[in-house]
Amino acid sequence: MNASSIDWNLLVQAARDARNNAYAPYSSFSVGAAVLGASGRIYAACNVENASYGLTICAERAAICAMIADGERNLAAIAVVTEGPEPSPPCGMCRQVLAEFAEDVPVHLVSVTPGVMARTTSLSKLLPEAFRPAMLPGTIAPGGRP
Ligand code: THU
Repeated sequence: MNASSIDWNLLVQAARDARNNAYAPYSSFSVGAAVLGASGRIYAACNVENASYGLTICAERAAICAMIADGERNLAAIAVVTEGPEPSPPCGMCRQVLAEFAEDVPVHLVSVTPGVMARTTSLSKLLPEAFRPAMLPGTIAPGGRP
């Protein structure tokens, strides 16, 4: 699916709604993410922090987990909603998790801060030369069922 055939408004609204539920008492940085599966279904999630800090779960990975729990393994797109002077891209760990379930996908980045322009990039730009499941002998990629 290319970026122009995706209903970004729908995906961004789902990410915004999830962001409103973010549990971010330590950083105060609320993140919402919505992933679009190849089926057309949308899975949204927010970041969930923890008093031990290191156990924090990013919104993007939480959204991917929701997609997998629903039985869907092909990622078509992702929208991420944050707040601040520029739209915030997924962290390195989340990029690697996204790369497990797609060769490449459009990544739409939105800041709720007034006047900040949204931008669309791609997973291959954010994570060139990703380590992929296919690099492990005997696996089916990406996100394939064994
Ligand atoms: N965070 C995300 O949810 N996604 C990212 O890709 C970057 C960071 C969260 C983790 C933490 O709760 C807060 O943002 C500050 O790092």
